[in-house]
Amino acid sequence: MARHLITSAIPYINGIKHLGNLVGSQLPADLFARYQRGRGHEVLFLCATDEHGTPAELAAAKAGKPVAEYCEEMHDVQAKIADGFNLSFDHFGRSSSAQNHKLTQHFAGRLADQGLIREVTETQMYSHEDGRFLPDRYIEGTCPNCGFEEARGDQCDNCGKLLDPTDLIDPYSTVSGSKDLEERETKHLYLRQSEMRGKLADWIDSKKDWPILTTSIAQKWLNDGDGLQDRGITRDLDWGIAVKKGENDWPGMEGKVFYVWFDAPIEYIACSQEWVDAGKGTDWERWWRTDKGADDVTYTQFMGKDNVPFHTLSFPATIFGADEDWKLVDYIKSFNYLNYDGGQFSTSRGRGVFMDQALEILPADYWRWWLLANAPESSDSEFTWEQFQSIVNKDLADVLGNFVSRVTKFCRSKFGEAVPEGGDYGPAELALTDDIAARVKAYEKHMDAMEVRKSAAELRAIWTAGNEYLQTVAPWSTFKEDPDTAAIQIRLALNLIRLYAVLSKPFIPDASAQMLAAMHTDDDSWPDDVSAALHMFQSGHEFTVPDITFRKITDAERDEWQEKFAGKRT
Ligand code: MF3
Ligand code: ZN
Repeated sequence: MARHLITSAIPYINGIKHLGNLVGSQLPADLFARYQRGRGHEVLFLCATDEHGTPAELAAAKAGKPVAEYCEEMHDVQAKIADGFNLSFDHFGRSSSAQNHKLTQHFAGRLADQGLIREVTETQMYSHEDGRFLPDRYIEGTCPNCGFEEARGDQCDNCGKLLDPTDLIDPYSTVSGSKDLEERETKHLYLRQSEMRGKLADWIDSKKDWPILTTSIAQKWLNDGDGLQDRGITRDLDWGIAVKKGENDWPGMEGKVFYVWFDAPIEYIACSQEWVDAGKGTDWERWWRTDKGADDVTYTQFMGKDNVPFHTLSFPATIFGADEDWKLVDYIKSFNYLNYDGGQFSTSRGRGVFMDQALEILPADYWRWWLLANAPESSDSEFTWEQFQSIVNKDLADVLGNFVSRVTKFCRSKFGEAVPEGGDYGPAELALTDDIAARVKAYEKHMDAMEVRKSAAELRAIWTAGNEYLQTVAPWSTFKEDPDTAAIQIRLALNLIRLYAVLSKPFIPDASAQMLAAMHTDDDSWPDDVSAALHMFQSGHEFTVPDITFRKITDAERDEWQEKFAGKRT
């Protein structure tokens, strides 16, 4: 039995995520976690909310709530939605947890002890009206290069020039609109990650089996002069993890907090401590400390491509720099973007389908199947309602759902609700068994490699093989002349329903549970031996015809939803 540590990039606390976010990290991570559990391996699957930073503070202010209260509420909202999508986290933690405070301060202390932190005094924009320093992107003004009047302090969206807030003409705060800004000196900690360039480059180089999307982004950041500059890991904010050196104060850093991107990945580890403290586990160190058994762990991270630099360089710099026995990631699976109906998903304009809305209109499995089958792996992919309707109706309703309902209903009407008496499988059944056995091997290979689309395609082919068999042997015709042979055919088909339930569980867990329940079994053991699996139910084994497994999406629904999600939500 292998051990798999699996993490999904932790979603920002503010707002509800859209389907593009879901398919970029949490959903494929869940697919992999479920698959590895299905194969009988030990899995620790973690995710959390990413709660610090200016956006969280501003969202709380907008909601008229203290930020701690806002985060607590939004964490519950996100946890419920994750549940609704059947995301099988062993723990859904919070980056604001006491565990993460302590661990983040520990890492900072270690890095300081190793001489990897320097203090830098810099000038930043202070807004009197807002009573705070403002991050560059919250300052706007006129671009000195092209005259665009709403250029952001970090970059002009009109001409693309990279800017400093001090370059802007007539700068103002986007939070309050105030122009009462002042350049002030403030001291910050910088992580000397440039010192670790060689070590990081060698490490990335050694990862020959990583997806090209992951390594190409990492290489670009390594080789591009700016990519691995020392970076500020503290901020002048109220909400966050107080800057400390382990348990000790950090003179000169009073009132400052760590930068959200410093503490967020550390939450991957802290989350396992939360998991233990919540009584769900007993030992987090055997997952994270190579001196405590984590050497046998395979650690896989899932994320969208915008997160790759932080996971291939910044977080490993923290781990390498701390020079303790922390488990490093073994494999980074990254995703491109999912677009929406000819454009982009837009959180600010409410364009596209958000996770809560998706569940209001259809059950999780419909979304899970479409999203995973069309995951943006080798390039960006696009959600359109036509394609969603056609794939759901075809794969789920016509192929899988129809198979289940046809087989169980036919058996009930001719033989009753139990596997009928009959002889051994004949050539057609053995040929199907061989075909499916080969396909299951291919499916396993793709799932092991986290090739999400290929896995979905193979699973679909396994469903289709059953349908084609049924079409060819046509038990409803056979029955008229030769009911014994029809009984054999139906026995195989009933066994296939359980096989499908097991293989499909990582993609569509609700339908899988429904199929197992219909077959009166909770044996969801993996079909390592397909032939044995297809002999599991013998004559007399009872079942119940299930309610409809998947329904079709009508043209009217499709048109209504397309209109509804075109972009109004605020
Ligand atoms: N919250 C970030 C995002 O949604 C992801 C943080 S991942 C972690 O883009 F590594 F920092 F935890
Ligand atoms: Zn400009």
